[in-house]
Amino acid sequence: MSERNQELLQLAQEEVEQHKETVEADPYRLSYHLMPPVGLLNDPNGFVQWGDTYHIFYQWMPFDTGHGAKFWGHYTTKDFVHYTHEKPALTPSDWFDKNGVYSGSAIVHEGKLHLFYTGNVKDENGNRETYQCLAVSEDGIHFEKKGVVAELPGGYTAHFRDPKVWSHDNRFYMVIGAQSEDEQGKAVLFRSDDLLEWTFLGPIAGSKENGMGSFGYMWECPDLFELDGTDVLIVSPQGLEADGMKYANVYQSGYFTGQLDYDKPYLDHGTFTELDLGFEFYAPQTTVDDKGRRILIGWMGVPDQYEQAHPTVENEWIHCLTLPRQLTWDGKQIIQQPLEELKEMRGPVLLHSSITIENDQKAIRGIQGKAIELNIDLETTGEQFSIELFQYASLSYKDGVMTLSRPHLEDKSKTEFRRTELRSELKNIHMFLDHSTLEIFVNNGEEVFTSRIYPQPEEEHILFTSLGSTTFSVEQWKLSGFEV
Ligand code: FRU
Repeated sequence: MSERNQELLQLAQEEVEQHKETVEADPYRLSYHLMPPVGLLNDPNGFVQWGDTYHIFYQWMPFDTGHGAKFWGHYTTKDFVHYTHEKPALTPSDWFDKNGVYSGSAIVHEGKLHLFYTGNVKDENGNRETYQCLAVSEDGIHFEKKGVVAELPGGYTAHFRDPKVWSHDNRFYMVIGAQSEDEQGKAVLFRSDDLLEWTFLGPIAGSKENGMGSFGYMWECPDLFELDGTDVLIVSPQGLEADGMKYANVYQSGYFTGQLDYDKPYLDHGTFTELDLGFEFYAPQTTVDDKGRRILIGWMGVPDQYEQAHPTVENEWIHCLTLPRQLTWDGKQIIQQPLEELKEMRGPVLLHSSITIENDQKAIRGIQGKAIELNIDLETTGEQFSIELFQYASLSYKDGVMTLSRPHLEDKSKTEFRRTELRSELKNIHMFLDHSTLEIFVNNGEEVFTSRIYPQPEEEHILFTSLGSTTFSVEQWKLSGFEV
């Protein structure tokens, strides 16, 4: 292990110890979501199952609640309910990654875990350089950096990062998020036979590619996989203008589906669909496990979206990962559902069936709490149905449109909204609340809203309102948090 690596690990550990009590005393601390021990967390990285263990790495800035020279933090789990916080896997200790071990992915090959990541480098004048790098581990805990495996090809700026690697027909492929010299966002493909030597094949999709118009100046964190017979490209484009109810966050995350021709290479695809309509969701990554499930985890945050207005900053930490979700393809769209294993966190169920509310607002006995799961099945829905959470956020359904609102994080005198027209009538709302997070799966995963919420810490009330008559049942489980 290099001296610089050891020094950085030591400094990060001191930072964790110095602020441990402050972070742990924060009422907004989470009980069943992955968060940083101190400092800033962003993208999930290197999500993979190896043997009976799932590895989830994350972009980590230990020294600040802002962005900077990222480490790879590291959690492992066998069941998505009990986690081990491993020691950081990678630090920005080498010339090729000194300004950040940026995002990337993992693949198991010949009994070793291979991590591919972007080495971010800035020279004395602030000019950016980018290197695609490899680190290898035999035990899943200690990683040996192998250095640079792919250089920046001609025609692209140094905004070229976030390698996602997979195997297909006995070869390896790597998709990278890129910006062409004329400042268009692209997803580009590399190929390799041994994971060490990589050949640049060219763009497979992008702004002004494949007959698509202008679609952002940079594409981050691409992920490409087959899902129930269709090819899916997930990407986080930057530079889309808000368009009606669409693209309301500063940057987006969504997907294209179609057919990837590996030889051309070219992704014949349809239009872009956002994966999540909440206030905080970005840079998701997927993996496939030994049960054949395609599982997605995202970052519950958005870069440059009033990040410093999150009140956890005062307590020396910011951001978290989403719950793991299973993806399926229903022939038209991706369906996202909370992973089955999460049911293991449930306490006894509290069930109220056939509740009718007519032109009224009501609390429902026992339906309250800070770390809970709610499942609401609607039988009939009035003109408007809404759920007020902790006198802070509100989820409301009217004229086919679902709206989530909360006080504006920066300007609390304003309310901010995210909304979408549902593809079908409202039938089901499945919600996970964890102190300062909210994940809402609508109509069994047709739409998802993911957001941070910062209600008064002692406020636990949930109120149901109906204009006209709404009849529904509600199930609630208190969720046991996980010890890390
Ligand atoms: C996305 C991103 C990636 C980059 C990483 C740096 O949030 O900007 O493109 O690799 O974060 O932390």
